[in-house]
Amino acid sequence: MPVGTAGTVKAVHTRELEADIQAQIILGNTYHLYLRPGLEVLRQAGGLHRFNGWSKPILTDSGGYQVFSLAQSRKITEEGVTFKSHIDGSKHLFTPEGVMDIERTIGADIIMAFDECPPYPSTYAYAEQSMQLTHRWLKRCIERVDQTEPHYGYAQSLFPIVQGSTYKDLRAQSAEFIASCEREGNAIGGLSVGEPAEMMYEMTDHVNRILPRDKPRYLMGVGTPANILENIALGVDMFDCVMPTRNARNGMLFTTEGIINIRNEKWKSDFSPIDSGFPSYVSQFYSKAYLRHLVISKEILASQIASIHNLSFYLWLVGEARAQIQAGTFAGWKNRMVEVVSRRL
Ligand code: GUN
Repeated sequence: MPVGTAGTVKAVHTRELEADIQAQIILGNTYHLYLRPGLEVLRQAGGLHRFNGWSKPILTDSGGYQVFSLAQSRKITEEGVTFKSHIDGSKHLFTPEGVMDIERTIGADIIMAFDECPPYPSTYAYAEQSMQLTHRWLKRCIERVDQTEPHYGYAQSLFPIVQGSTYKDLRAQSAEFIASCEREGNAIGGLSVGEPAEMMYEMTDHVNRILPRDKPRYLMGVGTPANILENIALGVDMFDCVMPTRNARNGMLFTTEGIINIRNEKWKSDFSPIDSGFPSYVSQFYSKAYLRHLVISKEILASQIASIHNLSFYLWLVGEARAQIQAGTFAGWKNRMVEVVSRRL
């Protein structure tokens, strides 16, 4: 899922998302959209789909992560989290019930539960206490969603989130609880927060042995192309990450040959396509030298081309993974591909 934090995938038009990138779903953030433009505008617009013109599914993250990473002076209580806006310092309270109402008003097709994402590392005692709070909040989220109606006439599904930090027994306990809630899909949170990649894989593997195979399993906030391929091998179906867009704006390109820092002098006179290894308009139309020139000159087109390229590459990569799984050739392909996409050119 391309990340569209504030209701826009940064530097990318809705038409490009559909036609060039072929995204099937995008992600929005409750925390940002609630603060700006605010619920009144979203309600008047008829929901985020009408507001930004994206007619395919939207998933909203609950703010359970952004409140911790962005807001100032947050305080967690049983009731919820009070925090100060990073925009104007105003004070707000997020409760599980309130966040469910906000996500309904935004108009998300998939509503993420309100959780706490503990930092890495966390002590066992903190991780356990935090996981139990997330579970109690989940019960309140479920109750609220099940007692309220969709806001705009289409279904809005709630996905619960497994927590438990890097402790296998807590992860198992959380996955059992999340599975027992029997929602339409399940998410794994609290990973890719600074722990070694091997530890992340150990946790997803452990959790995916418990979460049902016949429902989507969504690993939140992951990751590099290699991280995504390894986690697909462990049974993950959905991902979101700012990496393809954020890194694009800094001149980092993910390609079928490896990772490129386009600012590097070595691309100055390289007139070969950005990436001819997969079918994508911008990746084949523009040269590395031209894109480097745009980046160095701080031209806004640089962010547009690089973002569309990186997202097209990510979407192509996961599309290939699906085709390889269907052909029964995924394991060998994945091992070769992990090596290629991790290479620094
Ligand atoms: N995004 C990345 N990790 C997390 C998480 O643990 N919880 C939520 N809500 N969002 C995330």
